[in-house]
Amino acid sequence: MEGFNEKEGQLYVDDLPIAEIADTYGTPAYIYSGSRIQKNFNKYADALREGDLICYAVKANSNIHILKRLAQLGSGFDVVSGNELKRCIEAGADPKRVVFSGVAKSSEELELAINEEILSINIESEDEFDRIISISETLNKETKCSIRINPDIPTGSHKYIETGLKTSKFGVDTETLKNISLKAKNREFIKITGLASHIGSQISDNSLIMKSLEHLLTAHKLLLNDGHDINFLDVGGGLGITYKDEIPGDPKSLISEISKEIESLNLHLILEPGRSITGAAGALIAKVEYMKLTDYKNFAIINAGMNDLMRPALYDSWHEVKEIRKSDSDGRLYEIVGPVCESADVLAKERELNISQGDLIAFMDTGAYGSVMSSNYNSRLSVPEIIVDGSSAKIIKKRQSFEESIALEKNL
Ligand code: LLP
Repeated sequence: MEGFNEKEGQLYVDDLPIAEIADTYGTPAYIYSGSRIQKNFNKYADALREGDLICYAVKANSNIHILKRLAQLGSGFDVVSGNELKRCIEAGADPKRVVFSGVAKSSEELELAINEEILSINIESEDEFDRIISISETLNKETKCSIRINPDIPTGSHKYIETGLKTSKFGVDTETLKNISLKAKNREFIKITGLASHIGSQISDNSLIMKSLEHLLTAHKLLLNDGHDINFLDVGGGLGITYKDEIPGDPKSLISEISKEIESLNLHLILEPGRSITGAAGALIAKVEYMKLTDYKNFAIINAGMNDLMRPALYDSWHEVKEIRKSDSDGRLYEIVGPVCESADVLAKERELNISQGDLIAFMDTGAYGSVMSSNYNSRLSVPEIIVDGSSAKIIKKRQSFEESIALEKNL
């Protein structure tokens, strides 16, 4: 079986009972399905035309073993820091298939990207462009850039994951686009080869991305007029997944709509999906430490907290909670809380579960923006990551030890 599935009252990942993985590696732990990651990637890859490229958004899950698998499947990468670029290189990715987004690229990060001759630095401001010019001149190296436009399109998702509004810090407005285009004209060491946009996350309505494509096509005309040789349009990531009842994005229909629109233009397409590749391929496993039944609420207190899975506290997001061993009898409504000393340390509210002390539960669809957003708050140690293929499990990140967690503070 592929991905998370239930057999005879037990939760499995592929062909392995999760209870066995928990016995071996302990809890909390993130568990991923290798086959599910591959299947999600192929939904994009199978729909693309030759020469188009998927640049997996590393921020969603940057484990180098996952990056390595994706690189082997032919993925490029979208990075937002020099260290994400270094992770890609460590994982064996070809820097020539990497695009670099982000509003605050430091000189060191730009130098690294330019020296590695990446596919594109996605410019997010005129100041940044000036810095790129000066570094390329100093290094005496040609730099390929795209301009990230801000199309001012609301997506209706949580305000923290909207990125394409004119009030947000990402991308440039038309005036700045024009200025950068003119400044780049006939300039030695700078090649503007693409245009980019990313309007936000958890999108299921293709028409939003098609609207941003219209803006990209208008910008494309402007750049052609200034004599730039544009090879690709990068429409960003953002396709949503089903956490509860949301309609998921559909890579195939989106790619087909975009391909039709750019057919006659001799342009390649880049997409930067993150969540839709790794999100549903991961779960956080935790153990019930205590039950606390009060007149007001029933708390199930578990050994994972908001530091391990930040999404519910930060975005009030909903993750399905599954019992690892299901029983048929009725449950109770629980608020599932962690050990962190914050009232926001609530991972799920009003869930009907039949659980008791020592039982294991899984927070589903946490393969993206799960482990990567964790922290050491309350001196909690970061949890291991395990990937399963068929019936074999492989640890891809060790549990942090206490000594490792204080190493940077010692012997100073
Ligand atoms: N490209 C760029 C430039 C981005 O900023 C992002 C996500 C992506 C691609 C990938 O988007 P995706 O396909 O994963 O939706 N922490 C939040 C999500 C923040 C996304 C930030 N940018 C969450 O947990 O929902």
